[in-house]
Amino acid sequence: SVPSLAASGDFLQCLSSSIPSERVLTPSSPSFTSVLVSSIRNPKFFTPTTVRPLCIVTPTNASHVQAAVLCGRRHDVRLRVRSGGHDYEGLSYRSERPEVFAVVDLANLRAVRVDRAAGTAWVDSGATVGELYYAVAKAAPGLAFSAGVCSTMGLGGHISGGGMGMMMRKYGLSIDNVLDATLVDANGRLLDKEAMGSDLFWAIRGGGGGNFGIVLSWKVRLVPVPPTVTFSNIQKTIDQGAANAVTKWQALAPALPEDLSIRVIVQNQHALFQTLYLGGCSALVRAMSSLFPELGMTRADCREMTWLQSTVYINSGDTETPVETLLNRTTSLSTFTKNKSDYVKQAITKDTWEKIFPWFNSSAAGIMILEPHGGRVGSIADGDTPYPHRSGVLYNIQYVAFWTGNGTDGPNWISGLYNFMEPFVSKNPRGAYVNYRDLDIGENTVVGGVTSYETGKVWGESYFGANFQRLAVTKGKVDASDYFRNEQSVPPLLSRK
Ligand code: FDA
Repeated sequence: SVPSLAASGDFLQCLSSSIPSERVLTPSSPSFTSVLVSSIRNPKFFTPTTVRPLCIVTPTNASHVQAAVLCGRRHDVRLRVRSGGHDYEGLSYRSERPEVFAVVDLANLRAVRVDRAAGTAWVDSGATVGELYYAVAKAAPGLAFSAGVCSTMGLGGHISGGGMGMMMRKYGLSIDNVLDATLVDANGRLLDKEAMGSDLFWAIRGGGGGNFGIVLSWKVRLVPVPPTVTFSNIQKTIDQGAANAVTKWQALAPALPEDLSIRVIVQNQHALFQTLYLGGCSALVRAMSSLFPELGMTRADCREMTWLQSTVYINSGDTETPVETLLNRTTSLSTFTKNKSDYVKQAITKDTWEKIFPWFNSSAAGIMILEPHGGRVGSIADGDTPYPHRSGVLYNIQYVAFWTGNGTDGPNWISGLYNFMEPFVSKNPRGAYVNYRDLDIGENTVVGGVTSYETGKVWGESYFGANFQRLAVTKGKVDASDYFRNEQSVPPLLSRK
């Protein structure tokens, strides 16, 4: 139900009794728009018709978050929590449906406390992946964290949904390295792992953001990296045998030694093979010449650097880019994008790759990123965390379409490609990665004030497989009235079906 304007007024009044007024921005506040837009990347979620929040709460303290939840419950105003704002459907700051809601923006809660001796860190959800990488490498050289490739992502959403990156084959996803967390639940209580209980602690490690409460901080296990790693970018055009190389890569990459990760970006009639090796150039070139001679890697393809530099280099392609770039949180409204995902369990034949490559001709609207699984990420049992895409998965596919203005080429291209790929990817259900959120695979219906389990199952089993039911049962225990709700939130299941 849409609360009345009076309820909104009562909500704001309630906030003002527990939160300093400068921490609550309403549309009449001078900085409302700049704070709202500060972490929006996709212009399609910042238009005159976008359903925007009633206010933005910018907490500097856990008690502010607790107060926002308590006031929201009391006055029937929902909250959407935002850490880095990278949600592909913008669900952390906009609503698809008319709804009165407030945003809790955690950007100011971003401390990182590294315990070098213990090899752990406590990091606040509002910190970015880049801030964590930087803080860890500076405080504890030789240690690192296993997470994704884009440095401006918020850890709140990123860890909530999994956290795939270049070291997952050796160390698992981000969620596989979470040791404890603090969370404000739907009753406004501040809980740690022990107080949460095992189901809730299981659910927040991969069950997707925005479902179970507001995670304020994470205690993570840091992982060892050598002083020198090697990065390499090798591009093969179609004429240089790209289809052949990608065909071979599919079964090879998930089975490589765990220090060696090769991901592939398919675009503009070529495949770019990006390699991170946790070691020096000589050993890498030796390994590649016997395992993957099709790439023809030589010493000239190697860039030796620190692990921290590699997290910058993978995006910049330039060894001169300073590592301080990781601290830059600024994102800007740039191109319109649409993302979708798949998992591949059986290698796609070369004949089929020859039909896939033409989708990426010079006028194509997008790219495809292939992330190898296997190794540690593949050896954890499917039910140990909500992320079910483990054993037997060769790789994840992310499709990305880009466009400007009101064009329809991007959306048409990506849906055409997604349909084309159906026979070649995981099925029953067709898998998808919750951090690559995609509302096309299903949106919830609310029945009698609560999200319906049946409508949630449609998209939920794609993201979580058999883990979806346990997530819904957990939701039923910790948020039975479905307070933390959005178009694709886990529905509460009150009795096992
Ligand atoms: P945002 O703040 O938008 O939140 C995402 C969701 O989590 C929302 O539903 C939100 O309400 C909820 N949420 C946020 N903070 C929360 C908190 N503290 N407690 C509970 N719920 C919370 N992924 C990946 O695995 N590997 C990669 O390499 C990349 N690369 C990448 C590049 C780019 C350019 C983008 C835009 C995205 C990616 N991603 C990715 C996907 C990324 O992991 C995903 O979008 C994350 O949810 C982003 O987290 P944010 O905190 O930035 O998002």
